[in-house]
Amino acid sequence: MNESDATALARAVKELFETAQQTLRGAAESPLIDRITSHLGCPLTEIPNVTLHLPSFEHVNLQRGVDAYLALHTPTATWFGIAGNKGFLTVMDMLAEVMTGSAYSGTYQLGAVDYTTASTGPTTSTEVVQLGLVCTSAPDGRPVVLAVQGAREDHGEERCHLQLLAADRATAAEVRNEIERLMREHDVFRGQVLSFGVSEHRHNQLLTFLPRPSLRASDVVLPDGVLSLIEKHVVRSVTQTEALRTHGQHLKRGLLLYGQPGTGKTHTVRYLLSRLSECTVFVLSGMAMFRHLRATTALARRLAPSVVVVEDVDLIAEDRSRSEGNPVLFELLNEMDGIGSEADVTFVLTTNRVEVMEGALTQRPGRIDLAVEVPKPDGDCRERLLRLYAASTPLELPSADRVVEATEGVTASFIKELVRRAVLRHIDEPGPFDETVVHDALAELMAERQTLTRNILGGR
Ligand SMILES: Nc1ncnc2c1ncn2[C@@H]1O[C@H](COP(=O)(O)OP(=O)(O)O)[C@@H](O)[C@H]1O
Ligand SMILES: [Mg+2]
Repeated sequence: MNESDATALARAVKELFETAQQTLRGAAESPLIDRITSHLGCPLTEIPNVTLHLPSFEHVNLQRGVDAYLALHTPTATWFGIAGNKGFLTVMDMLAEVMTGSAYSGTYQLGAVDYTTASTGPTTSTEVVQLGLVCTSAPDGRPVVLAVQGAREDHGEERCHLQLLAADRATAAEVRNEIERLMREHDVFRGQVLSFGVSEHRHNQLLTFLPRPSLRASDVVLPDGVLSLIEKHVVRSVTQTEALRTHGQHLKRGLLLYGQPGTGKTHTVRYLLSRLSECTVFVLSGMAMFRHLRATTALARRLAPSVVVVEDVDLIAEDRSRSEGNPVLFELLNEMDGIGSEADVTFVLTTNRVEVMEGALTQRPGRIDLAVEVPKPDGDCRERLLRLYAASTPLELPSADRVVEATEGVTASFIKELVRRAVLRHIDEPGPFDETVVHDALAELMAERQTLTRNILGGR
């Protein structure tokens, strides 16, 4: 060996030592890595990658599933976090950065848990872990570390993640399955009224909670028998559901409410939703619904018994922008059919123009099993409407005949507005508040110069 060979060898050995030392330092001097590896009992390099990816709106359920898991297996477990600029990286990537002792190695350290909030109802919310880890164990006692990461929405990410760190893949997968099961068991969406929307700047699908309407049957004025027919079709008892199942009959129902605007289709749906307090409800409207149809039907199946309300379905029936043959409406009808006969999912569709729907519905029968017209109010209904909306006012109506007769052909919402106008008149010109005031308000509404207002309100 000549001298230059010896120098080269010495240099190579020195480099090797430095690399080895750096790697060891990265690991050994990181309390973050320590905390994980000492729990798992194996180096991080031997950890298989098991991750559960979920849509960002499932974050709250992920938290619930993990919390339930911890409560069962390691109730005293405490969360820890990672300090440093997290950017795009997953927890595993951050740990890898520390391990390899790369340029960023000092960046990630044991730190506090990041939290964010998530809704659990129309007026309630809860804290969820945005980035955090926790040491726990599999049902058989083998050690596992869970890492929860919310969607990094400022980076346009649409999914949240659960990473499972365990010495072997089977253990990690078992814990993942158990957490998924617990998520479904503790699902916050069950029994709620929900609507899909898109966050403007984040492009994320958002599932928002709506308050459940509370209407009484007496709030809905329809010809005798109509409301009970609709109600009987949709509100089915548990015993009936069981009987249908035993006799091998499908459970899914499809209701179509049609009629002119302002006759009370939405009002009727709101009444049904107040009656179906046990059901999960999805409200879809406009073209926006189309983007979320798949996600909605999947959730409806999962959260059954459930109701999917598609308002003003003629709006999508009209859309021919996609290609021939109105695929938007067909997509809806396909989804309605594809829901599966075992699923207890009811579709409630409303439309102002049933004629736009008819072709599609007859071409694909079986999706709608009850179509009910919500008609303009007859004389009897107009009187009931007058009295219903006058009830909260000082209006005295010993007789309403004159107004009832003069309002032939108007919609229910027109009558509601008429009472409001009468109240305004009464406020402007105090005096006896009786049928004459209503009649005068009607004359005003009917006046020529108000044609547009009148039409918008559903006058003749
Ligand atoms: N049949 C009805 N009985 C009682 N109120 C009604 C009825 N129809 C309409 N209304 C009133 O008019 C409002 C508008 O009606 P809506 O249900 O939105 O009509 P549609 O959905 O048929 O266009 C309702 O919120 C309700 O206050
Ligand atoms: Mg409506």
